[in-house]
Amino acid sequence: MFNLNEFKARRHQLIKAMGDGIAIVPTSPELIRNRDSHYAYRFDSYFYYLTGFKEPEALLVLIAGEENKSILFCRDKDVEREIWDGFRYGADAAKHAFGFDEAYSFNALDELMPKLLVNQANLFYSLGADSAWDARVTSWLNQVKTQTRSGVSAPDGISDVRKLVDEMRLYKSAYELDVMRQSAEIAARAHTRAMRFVRPGQMEYEVEAEFLHEFYRSGAQAPAYTSIVAGGANACTLHYNANNSRLNDGDLLLIDAGCEIDGYASDITRTFPVNGKFSPAQKDVYELVLAAQVAAIAKVASGNHWNAPHEAALDVLVQGFIDMKLCHGSKDGVLESGSYRQFYMHRTGHWLGLDVHDAGEYKDKAGDWRKLGSGMTLTVEPGCYIRPADNVPEHFWNIGIRIEDDVLVTNDSCEVLTMAAPKTIADIEAIMRG
Ligand code: GLY
Ligand code: MN
Ligand code: MN
Repeated sequence: MFNLNEFKARRHQLIKAMGDGIAIVPTSPELIRNRDSHYAYRFDSYFYYLTGFKEPEALLVLIAGEENKSILFCRDKDVEREIWDGFRYGADAAKHAFGFDEAYSFNALDELMPKLLVNQANLFYSLGADSAWDARVTSWLNQVKTQTRSGVSAPDGISDVRKLVDEMRLYKSAYELDVMRQSAEIAARAHTRAMRFVRPGQMEYEVEAEFLHEFYRSGAQAPAYTSIVAGGANACTLHYNANNSRLNDGDLLLIDAGCEIDGYASDITRTFPVNGKFSPAQKDVYELVLAAQVAAIAKVASGNHWNAPHEAALDVLVQGFIDMKLCHGSKDGVLESGSYRQFYMHRTGHWLGLDVHDAGEYKDKAGDWRKLGSGMTLTVEPGCYIRPADNVPEHFWNIGIRIEDDVLVTNDSCEVLTMAAPKTIADIEAIMRG
């Protein structure tokens, strides 16, 4: 799957966007979970986007202008350590395999970085993202500044390198879309598997295990985020992830789960009845959320603004809330007062890519919603969450529903990458019947 030219082209594009100066992009640190055990390692998305390199203890330097080169700092080849922790490239092999102009040991950073910073007009760096790196970069800059009497200069200021990369990450290439389609297909298969598996009396974590099983057996390296497996009232807690309740006959089950493959996330939510059959009240709310989602997806097209899908979903939901006597008054009145937020309190989606809530601005420089463009990927995920309350008919209590798909903006409309996960009532009930 690794596509060397794609990563080289990204570095060139960033160097062009920098114009002049030097960029420093470290990867994520390894994190201790407890005592001497680490969390599963996950590289930094910006670093990975520009390198394709997955090892910890690595840093990318790009130098624009006449020098025009890319330099990797990475761990040394170390046969002794590799017996314990597994393969590591080392600078020479990494330089060739990943197409850098130069590569050095990570241990040489403090010696070489002050030299590389000398006489650079600008520094592009993600100040504030990691205080340990901030301190280290500051010490390199201070070393350059102490030499000013010998005629060298330090960069004038620091620009956030992420701003430049965010714009690049927003538009997915054919290569990235290939990976995202795989990620979406695996997650859709896992949701279908869960629909076949679920029975009253099971525990939420048993269902979560089915997801992990399907993710890993299909080649995904990790869940893209902690799965939400929320039966009954738990579905009304938006970020519920205890996943430790029993699934009751008559309840709905909301599952928000996606996987990560080569860094790219899928993010799917499906909601279905634990016993395989929607009750009349569940059916009413489900059909409403589905109609809102279909209306929102219809607004995903090049040239429409970012908020158009949210506005379309809201329009459908608010009318439905009024029809079901959850909200009162005119549609405009409910929208104006915000009383719908008792049942729909989040937005309808986010960019999707290397980060599940991916990089990229939602507004343009003038403060207007930005226009959707071909190659952007986003989620469309309206929902309805009805907690018990005096102003709510009792047959709706504890119904929590969200339907979430991953969508690619194309020239004239869009492609739903997660189509394979069933979402009509007829399809869900048919699958659950077996
Ligand atoms: N799973 C995170 C989200 O839907 O935004
Ligand atoms: Mn989402
Ligand atoms: Mn989600």
